[in-house]
Amino acid sequence: MDTRAARSKSEISGGAHTPRQHDSAHKHVTGSADYIDDMPVPAGTLHGYLGLSARAHARIVSMDLEPVRKAPGVVAVLTGADVPGVNDISPGGRDDEPVLATGEVLFHGQPVFAVIAETREQARRAAQLASIDYENLPHVTDVRGAIEANYPFVTDPLKLERGDVETGLAHSPRRLKGAMRIGGQDHFYLEGHIALAIPGEDDEVTVWSSTQHPSEVQHMVAHALGTVSNAVTVQVRRMGGGFGGKETQSNQFAAIAAIAAKKLNRAVKIRPDRDDDMIITGKRHDFVVDYDVGYDENGRIHAVDASFAARCGFSSDLSGPVTDRALFHADNCYFYRDVRFISKPMMTNTVSNTAFRGFGGPQGMLGGERIIEEVAYALGRDPLDIRKANFYGAADDPDGRNVTPYHQTVTDNIIAQIVDQLESSSDYQARRAEIIDFNANSPVIRRGIALTPVKFGISFTATWYNQAGALVHVYQDGSIHLNHGGTEMGQGLNTKVAQVLADEFQVDLDMIRITATTTGKVPNTSATAASSGTDLNGMAAANAAQQIKARLIAFAVDKFNVPPEQVVFEPNHVRVGNELLEFGDFIRQAYLARIQLSAAGFYKTPDIHWDRASGKGRPFYYFAYGAAVSEVSVDTLTGEYQVDRTDVLHDAGRSLNPALDIGQIEGAFVQGMGWLTTEELWWDDNGRLRTHAPSTYKIPLASDRPKIFNVELASWSENREPTVRRSKAVGEPPFMLPISVLEALGMAVASIADYSVCPRLDAPATPERVLMAVEGLKAMAADGAPEGPGATEN
Ligand code: MTE
Ligand code: HPA
Repeated sequence: MDTRAARSKSEISGGAHTPRQHDSAHKHVTGSADYIDDMPVPAGTLHGYLGLSARAHARIVSMDLEPVRKAPGVVAVLTGADVPGVNDISPGGRDDEPVLATGEVLFHGQPVFAVIAETREQARRAAQLASIDYENLPHVTDVRGAIEANYPFVTDPLKLERGDVETGLAHSPRRLKGAMRIGGQDHFYLEGHIALAIPGEDDEVTVWSSTQHPSEVQHMVAHALGTVSNAVTVQVRRMGGGFGGKETQSNQFAAIAAIAAKKLNRAVKIRPDRDDDMIITGKRHDFVVDYDVGYDENGRIHAVDASFAARCGFSSDLSGPVTDRALFHADNCYFYRDVRFISKPMMTNTVSNTAFRGFGGPQGMLGGERIIEEVAYALGRDPLDIRKANFYGAADDPDGRNVTPYHQTVTDNIIAQIVDQLESSSDYQARRAEIIDFNANSPVIRRGIALTPVKFGISFTATWYNQAGALVHVYQDGSIHLNHGGTEMGQGLNTKVAQVLADEFQVDLDMIRITATTTGKVPNTSATAASSGTDLNGMAAANAAQQIKARLIAFAVDKFNVPPEQVVFEPNHVRVGNELLEFGDFIRQAYLARIQLSAAGFYKTPDIHWDRASGKGRPFYYFAYGAAVSEVSVDTLTGEYQVDRTDVLHDAGRSLNPALDIGQIEGAFVQGMGWLTTEELWWDDNGRLRTHAPSTYKIPLASDRPKIFNVELASWSENREPTVRRSKAVGEPPFMLPISVLEALGMAVASIADYSVCPRLDAPATPERVLMAVEGLKAMAADGAPEGPGATEN
């Protein structure tokens, strides 16, 4: 901490809108950041490991766990029968997700028992010794199969409808139909799932969990233990990445650790290895999108009828809101006069899919962008022209081209400005012309370029989730303790919230200490998700600061006999009348006068509402926008490709921290690129996930990033809503910018047939899939086969 004398009087260091490094950056790189597996554990801590189902769908006829019990170091073996409370950890309380399966298993890899042993290695080895007899039942693992087999929905489907789709389609001058498959994605956080449960007195237990949702872990642990929430405290200092994969998936590990800890009265830690983590926990939903589109010669889309079927897995988890969000984003930036979107949340005998950055939004948006590409290729036009022709209008659009399929009016539309600026700064038109020339003379290497926009709705669609709390203490020496309900997973939430607090009190950022999230300090929190962490917790922290400041002002008015407007928080000082007091001295005086220097802040997002039954409302407080231009080159003999250049212009409103926001955009882009290019999940015929380690599942490497990568914030943008310092959420929206990479690959492939056919590349466009698309087009060009090269099914 600086000395008092050195503190600036003109400006605080690290306030809002300044580019400050992540508060833990130096600890991440020096290995001094504490993760749960680094924490010193209580004496006698035991270790758990899970025994998994070897069938995709079967009745458990018998289980012989004696060899497990007799293995060296084993202290206990738990099954569903040992769950003292309710054997369910389903987030919505739907009772469809057991802590440990009993009677029937619904996916290959489902946890059926837990071994607790003196060491992790002993538990891990013992877990392999069970002998389980199954009676196989029919299973289905993919979306089309589930639809054909009449598998049930895991939750009620949603319909969004506006206008008259049948008439709109029938009267459109042109019409096309198609389907797209969109793959799932593993979260691949660096720190895998982990829970450490420490038993307390009576029914109390403290659980350290790597979770984005401490309150839900608390409730689930209480539920499974058969006790109430006030007996359970959940703590999170930080996660080594979450990306949505720790929104509900931490419940199981925490519940089992807590059950074992209470049963054995010893601390219990559970940390699956990477393969098991990938097998046991849910992923991004893969989708099949079927579309029927009516449009005209100018590329204006008149009517869209589309369905979005998702592989939800064996239980509902968050599949309802995920598939809803897919529909909310299938319009992306485009106005459709007559529109109907339907979700099909299909049950499958696979792990239950869950939240993942964008939460269904990316899949919906990609479907929407496919429609644009189809129209563009059908008309022989640059897809960018078709995008522009269909953009939503302004808030006062005379033709009403500003109403979404869910009947929310888009009032903050800046996509045209973003796209215009990017089109010009990236030199899109000249580069596209040059690439077309290049392709005409290049037999093997083909290049492509695409500019794609993003509009992403900010708010949880479960309206009650849009609330947050914070707890702020100012100590006698003027140092400040900050706690809020959000969790830090690398995104820089703590830094941003501390910046807001520094601004409120007008003190340097290093006066603020950010402390571990705990359900004991801020209750009933929402998941840190939906990109809402800073919006919600930043406002709650500001509210707490404002309460304390109001008391301080009242104190100064009283003590120094000045009007309230003469008590002003200036950088590291408080001006009272003509006197300038050092912040710490002022606080000390307030303490001596018995002023309460602690406050619990609260915030709830105003003006949002959503009626799912009618499909109408204002689910989003505002939209975040962005656009990217990507250029690729493809080797048409092998299907291999690289991203040569990407330019991004993204809207973070008045960015609270441009350095962190640019980091979020770069990270989201590369992660989204992985989803659309190399990351492929593959289940075999027995329903067994075969891509469960980095050897078979390829996330992007540093060398895969665009060779030239220019990322800029739309510095002129400012949130029109009174969000925290007029900033916008940034966690998820940029994840969809790499749709530009997929469409650029499409252009490179389409060059084989002189851009006359939409290449219908499915995602992920792995080199194999690109090669098949190239070969398909070559064959078509050779023998004039009528059908396009749509990618093969997997
Ligand atoms: N950034 C890092 N480094 N690690 C993460 O796990 N998760 C993303 C995003 N950025 C994530 C991340 C996801 S899925 C979301 S919803 C937001 O951060 C959540 O944090 P926020 O609401 O504070 O932006
Ligand atoms: N993203 C978007 N919306 C959500 C999420 C999320 O992770 N969780 C619940 N609603």
